[in-house]
Amino acid sequence: MSRRTTVDAVKEMLGPPDIAMPALLTMRAKENRHLEHILGVTSTFVSEDTGTHADFVGSIRELLSGVGTKTPGWKRLVRVTEQAVNHFLPATSCDFATFIRCVTFHIWVVGVLNPDAPQDVILQSTDLSVAQVTSAFFEFNETGGTGVTPSRLHSTLKEWITCDRDGNNNPVNLVFPVYEKLWRLVAAIVICAQRCPVAKNPLLDFCDNPTERQFRSSRAPDHGPSAADVINEVLRMYPPVQEISRPYGLPLWQTVQMGRVQIADIKAVQEFNEEGERIQEPQAFIPGRWQSGPKPAIFAFGDGPLRCPAEHCAPAFAALIASKVMDRVNGVGHKLERISDTGSTAQYCWEGRAVRRMY
Ligand code: HEM
Repeated sequence: MSRRTTVDAVKEMLGPPDIAMPALLTMRAKENRHLEHILGVTSTFVSEDTGTHADFVGSIRELLSGVGTKTPGWKRLVRVTEQAVNHFLPATSCDFATFIRCVTFHIWVVGVLNPDAPQDVILQSTDLSVAQVTSAFFEFNETGGTGVTPSRLHSTLKEWITCDRDGNNNPVNLVFPVYEKLWRLVAAIVICAQRCPVAKNPLLDFCDNPTERQFRSSRAPDHGPSAADVINEVLRMYPPVQEISRPYGLPLWQTVQMGRVQIADIKAVQEFNEEGERIQEPQAFIPGRWQSGPKPAIFAFGDGPLRCPAEHCAPAFAALIASKVMDRVNGVGHKLERISDTGSTAQYCWEGRAVRRMY
């Protein structure tokens, strides 16, 4: 196994100049076989086929174009987000990560995948509830398995996702692994904003005025970081995909030298800037570092031909959800509290927290 941690090495691994698209897809599909076997994913993430890739990425781009910040779909998404946060706020208390998972899933399904549904629709459980579906995905991501069978997941998702966006009518393709990345980013944003006032204020401004312009505006009068700078810094420090691995079909002698699997260490490489130099205080959360160049290198959305098609819209989307959560979990009606001290053993920044109702 060979771990890539520098800007040039990661770029070379994710966009190798001498490897054609079919071979790249084959490598990714090999690494993702478990997605197919355990969850029943059939999209480009598990397929060698260039046609499947073009169709899936095309339908994702079309889907996202309907909820861009300048579209009527975005206005509806803002309402759906407010309603989802309201709906999942606990009557007494609940685990913070579970809350963010349910809210993000609901917004993804109702706000993006079902654009014609009433904006206040509730996803009713016939077999599995939203909390059960989202915890099955989480369990899968953490352990590589889940106690819920693909057929139960599929039949529940089919109840909720009525449109056939993906051409092959497999709703799990439109939910996993997309939503799994999104909720992790949302959770990390809320935690960073709670710890750092410089990050909180631009997000609350964006909550009041969720426009593209506001997202990118420096905060007057202190010219502090914009909401976009905050999200970039969260993505730098807490990338939802921490590493990308590919089993390269290298000749045997090179496999001995370099290992069978190449890993792009996203977290490590984001401690450098675009010019390949180490940034100052890489372990510190400093959104202001995005205000002037050279900017930190960002690989949170991958690189090369398989780069994420959502990289331009996911930051504003995540900021919208996080800011609406912060607006309601504000220490008045509900508060975010630490329920266990995970200390330095915590794998994720959002562990050990609960959302509690105040009265
Ligand atoms: C925080 C949010 C997200 C992060 C951090 C993220 C990250 C990534 C990364 C690292 C890859 C590259 C995978 C690889 O090289 O093997 C990727 C690919 C992809 N992402 Fe995202 N993603 C996010 C959200 C989304 C969303 C919201 C969508 C869909 C609407 C999406 C759709 C895709 C697709 C279809 C690919 C495959 C692209 C291709 O095969 O050409 N992602 N994403």
